Amino acid sequence: MAAAGTAASMTGMYATALLLHLLGAAIWTGGHLVLATAVLPRALRARDPAVLLNFEQGFERIGIPALITQVLSGLWLAHLQLPPGEWFALATPQSHLIAAKLGLLATTAVFALDARLRLIPHLTAASLPAMAWHIWPVTLLSIVFVMVGAGFRLGWG
Ligand code: HEM
Repeated sequence: MAAAGTAASMTGMYATALLLHLLGAAIWTGGHLVLATAVLPRALRARDPAVLLNFEQGFERIGIPALITQVLSGLWLAHLQLPPGEWFALATPQSHLIAAKLGLLATTAVFALDARLRLIPHLTAASLPAMAWHIWPVTLLSIVFVMVGAGFRLGWG
């Protein structure tokens, strides 16, 4: 009885984590696609940092919680696949995919922190192209995140 209850609550937690993970993915990747394909070209054409900063302020409110949700639900989903000690052993397809996700996360963090701390506080028309060279890679990485995520189900890795 107790075992069945535990199994049911694990299934419920798994469903909750996976749904949060998918919602976070929709927000993070979708938001960056809008940023890279609609907002950034408009800002570059107008040579106007305000176009970007306005979007950034609105998106940050939902984008940063989405990324935090992604990391927490992702780490939890990953520990169900493999014990953390085996994540970097690269001995199984799951460990390839988990290590790839963490590598994507580290690369994304470097670009995002550099943009947030160095570029955004002093954004000018002259530094817009440097900002574009942060937005394009982070958007590309956000798509690779989804592809690697789908890889768990598709048997890639
Ligand atoms: C912005 C970042 C991320 C995005 C967009 C993303 C996206 C996705 C997507 C679309 C799936 C497919 C879910 C399914 O099969 O239905 C997935 C699965 C998964 N992701 Fe992520 N992910 C991100 C970050 C992370 C991080 C940081 C980790 C930590 C290691 C992680 C670990 C996992 C795991 C373990 C699964 C497989 C879940 C399962 O089927 O049980 N993800 N991810």
